[in-house]
Amino acid sequence: MGSDVTYSSYLDLDRILAAQHPASGAHDEMLFIIVHQASELWLKLCIHELVAARECLIADDLRPAFKMLARVARAQGQLIQSWDVLSTMTPHDYSTVRPHLGGSSGFQSAQYRMMEFLLGGRNPDMVAMHEATPEVAGALRAELGRRSIYAEAVALLARRGFAIPAEVLARDHADGWAFSPEVEAAWAEIYRDPEAHWDLYELAEKLVDLEYHFQRWRFGHLKTVERIIGFKKGTGGTPGVPYLAGVLKQAFFPELLSVRTAL
Ligand code: HEM
Repeated sequence: MGSDVTYSSYLDLDRILAAQHPASGAHDEMLFIIVHQASELWLKLCIHELVAARECLIADDLRPAFKMLARVARAQGQLIQSWDVLSTMTPHDYSTVRPHLGGSSGFQSAQYRMMEFLLGGRNPDMVAMHEATPEVAGALRAELGRRSIYAEAVALLARRGFAIPAEVLARDHADGWAFSPEVEAAWAEIYRDPEAHWDLYELAEKLVDLEYHFQRWRFGHLKTVERIIGFKKGTGGTPGVPYLAGVLKQAFFPELLSVRTAL
């Protein structure tokens, strides 16, 4: 069975390796394209793992979820590492590439937005730019109709007997997660007595890990962008670095951050 399978056919390398189309003649454009493409592949893996991890949370099956969340953190490590490679790109080469980018920008990465939505960082306005590809807009909108990983974690706390208000559990999933003092109090109970709630404690720390890595990615992006384009506007139409500095303030799991102060 499968004797005609080759390394190249199994991995569909003909297509993957034929998908780089430098347009500018700048030497560094190959780097620019490959870092973006590799990042999208890692994002694909992160989404695959996060979707499955959420199913495990729903089923109260935490051990496999931990394995998947740990893997996401490692994949994020690869994403973060890519800034070290990309930051070897010079402003001169980037300025040669930039006219060929038109209005395209990582801002339009549907997978990046999906990952944010999955974790709980949700801004429904971010779907509009994907309307030209209805299946992409549809998938993002469908995600906004579901509980995020974090909302599922909070639902799990309620099932385990923590006092989570009914209105927190019944929230509209389309919006970003708003801080709830009762949710912070539940996490505080867990953090004060890890032995008694070991799996929830571990879940909390796995989530904190993901957010920590997400922020490191954002910071690395900001610093790379600053180094390459300074304070020029983004090709996606935002003010550039100031926009990226703004998103650094967004927290996916506000109570997991604030609980540290409360302890
Ligand atoms: C020379 C390299 C890069 C430059 C100069 C750059 C620049 C920017 C700028 C200025 C923005 C703000 C939106 C805009 O107005 O365009 C942005 C957003 C973004 N970029 Fe990059 N970028 C670079 C590389 C990358 C790479 C390798 C990725 C990997 C996928 C990436 C993913 C993103 C994402 C996901 C956003 C949206 C962030 C958010 O909305 O929170 N960028 N980029």
